[in-house]
Amino acid sequence: MSKVLILGANGKIARLAEHIFVDTTDSDLKLYLRNADRLKDFADSHTLAEAVEGDATDTTNLADAMKDVDLVYANLAGNNIESQARAVIEAMHAENKTRLVWISTLGIYDEVPGKFGEWNKKVLGDYITNYAAAAKVIEDSDLDYTIIRPAWLTDKPEVDYEVTQKGETFKGTEVSRRSIAQIVVDIAQDPDKYSRESIGVNKPNTDGDKPAWY
Ligand SMILES: NC(=O)c1ccc[n+]([C@@H]2O[C@H](COP(=O)([O-])OP(=O)(O)OC[C@H]3O[C@@H](n4cnc5c(N)ncnc54)[C@H](OP(=O)(O)O)[C@@H]3O)[C@@H](O)[C@H]2O)c1
Repeated sequence: MSKVLILGANGKIARLAEHIFVDTTDSDLKLYLRNADRLKDFADSHTLAEAVEGDATDTTNLADAMKDVDLVYANLAGNNIESQARAVIEAMHAENKTRLVWISTLGIYDEVPGKFGEWNKKVLGDYITNYAAAAKVIEDSDLDYTIIRPAWLTDKPEVDYEVTQKGETFKGTEVSRRSIAQIVVDIAQDPDKYSRESIGVNKPNTDGDKPAWY
């Protein structure tokens, strides 16, 4: 049995992962979020889950929350994502924690081809630069990380994905949050999976100049 710390635990992918964890595994969950009251009912109704208050830039609070966990899953966002990555790494070092799953985005290595790649870069702008900087500090660390680079996210209730590695051209335009959540849960059950890898994740056969809904 493992204990997983989920940072940004009220995020959309995180919420899906939390439900998969409690429905299909015996992992303990520590839910780290701002305004922790939002997940109080969920934590109270699942004996293996607890919710703790915290900001992902607060290194001391992060380290405190990490003391008894086996894996850190960061489902974070924001312009200060690089600062959040630095704080998470510092806290993990302080607590001798090694396994990190980090949700990033497509495009951080300029790996998205053709017209979709140009569109993606234009629409996402500084967001990609910030996410690339965050991914770099993680890759430059000695942590046992998995960086997940999802395609444009959908709320389709499906698990249907394929993976590309860093250095390969990104495929497709979309993927479901449910697929990303399942990958996170799979890694927590088998921590050697995608160890020190940065994976692109897309739904097969969704190539196009833009996501289908644009
Ligand atoms: N939308 C897309 O098509 C797409 C594609 C690829 C990748 N992504 C990225 O995938 C990631 C996960 O997606 P998602 O849909 O789960 O995102 P989400 O629902 O926006 O979740 C992100 C979470 O980060 C939390 N957060 C931000 N700053 C924080 C801080 N300083 N301390 C603690 N928590 C903080 C937010 O907390 P609060 O609830 O407190 O605000 C939010 O719950 C995001 O980074 C997103 O940008 C998105």
